Amino acid sequence: MKISIDRLPQNHKGLILLPFEESESLRYPTDFQKLKISSVLFSGKKDTQFLLEDSASERTYLLIGLGKNPDYKTIQTAFRRLTAKQSRLFEKGALLAIQEEMKDSFLEAAVSGLYLGTYRLGHFKKTEEPKLDWENVSLRISSSFEDAEKIAERASKIANAQLQVFNLVDLPSNTVTPEYLSDWARNAGKTFGFEVKVLGRAEAKEQHLDAFLAVSQGSHREPQFIIAQYNPENPKKHIGLVGKGVTFDTGGLNIKTAGMVHMKCDMGGAAAVLGAMQAIADLKLPVKVTAIVPCVENSVDNQAFLPSDVIGSYAGKTIEIIDTDAEGRLILADGLSYLIKNHQPDSVIDLATLTGSTVGTFGYECAALFTNDIDLSQNLQKSGESIGERVWPLPLWDVYQPEIESEIADLKNYHGKPFAGAIVAAKFLEAFTENHGSWAHIDIAGTAFGDSEFAKTKHATGFGMHLLLNLLEKI
Ligand code: BES
Ligand code: ZN
Ligand code: ZN
Repeated sequence: MKISIDRLPQNHKGLILLPFEESESLRYPTDFQKLKISSVLFSGKKDTQFLLEDSASERTYLLIGLGKNPDYKTIQTAFRRLTAKQSRLFEKGALLAIQEEMKDSFLEAAVSGLYLGTYRLGHFKKTEEPKLDWENVSLRISSSFEDAEKIAERASKIANAQLQVFNLVDLPSNTVTPEYLSDWARNAGKTFGFEVKVLGRAEAKEQHLDAFLAVSQGSHREPQFIIAQYNPENPKKHIGLVGKGVTFDTGGLNIKTAGMVHMKCDMGGAAAVLGAMQAIADLKLPVKVTAIVPCVENSVDNQAFLPSDVIGSYAGKTIEIIDTDAEGRLILADGLSYLIKNHQPDSVIDLATLTGSTVGTFGYECAALFTNDIDLSQNLQKSGESIGERVWPLPLWDVYQPEIESEIADLKNYHGKPFAGAIVAAKFLEAFTENHGSWAHIDIAGTAFGDSEFAKTKHATGFGMHLLLNLLEKI
């Protein structure tokens, strides 16, 4: 979209978008006083619209209802709906009229929503109807905000990174392989300004990333251990990120009997972290960030690791494999200890589609948060609340420690019991954090991929990218 900021020109023709919060008597912006219509027809209720055609002035007014005190996600979704479902309205461009009393975040949510709505799931369709040339659609914003231009640009950068996350998660595992992810990271690094180093199988062997390698054994796809670094001048802090990059999770020899078809989403943590790196560099945040993204396919052949195998790890701890489907914690274990030993970040955050247990606990609207840092916990909750990516804490109490103790090795990767799955997985990860005092693990199994009004099948939500960005902006 080509965005420009304008006062409303008298002779403006075409589509005018007018968002309204619900109210007994709607407040129309000064330029649109004569538009007032009966509250019976439109009162700004959530998820309502009213379309008014004025042939004399060649204008089409689209009144958009947002409900009372709409939050960020509600505003974003209302605008996403427009470009997703009514794209033809935008053929000749549009003007968005922002009212004076609306906040900066309103404009950001609206513009990013318009961008997100341009996403289409039909990546491989040969027969899809022609897409609008969104890059050339002009969007005029009439707003009295001083920094409207900056906010709109910021929104477009955030949306751009989110669209990348959508792509990475929705594309299938025969496209998004570990090598696809490392290529993506190298390209984004060049475009947006961060360093990328990748360890393949041989280098990972040299480094003794044995838990990471064990998961990759049953697949012909080369594992990729991505190390990305964004290093601005005079950074305020150094944050470490880790994202689970299982490009497909068959379960391994403990093969999945349910839900395997959705397991292309098992690199949702990787996508969120890589997307965050793009946005962080694009927005030039004054924070140093080191991201580790271990990427593997968890598949089955005669080389695959076996239940009962004892494997090593970068931290030097031995692990008894109880279940090959508990693979995410193995690659994260190496990711976490590699990050902490070699880069010593001030805080560490990992994102992973880790357990079905999280889906059972929080469903699809909230991710599970585990952390030993109360400030980080509160900041993550606040960030999540403000942009509609909720997280809520679960405990890391030591009473759960026996669940990961093994008789034959230092640890086991699964307790084999039908309870506390998310907590036990988090306790396992904790064992690889080198007692770091500021670590947060976010289990996004329920929130990374799901149903929405924007597609008939489950699809990427982009969860996590914006959460990380928002958190890092507050540092
Ligand atoms: N990738 C799955 C977790 C998952 C579940 C992601 C649902 C997205 C949606 C993970 O690797 C897994 O298989 N977890 C198992 C572990 C168990 C078998 C040891 C689980 O939680 O059921
Ligand atoms: Zn699994
Ligand atoms: Zn998995």
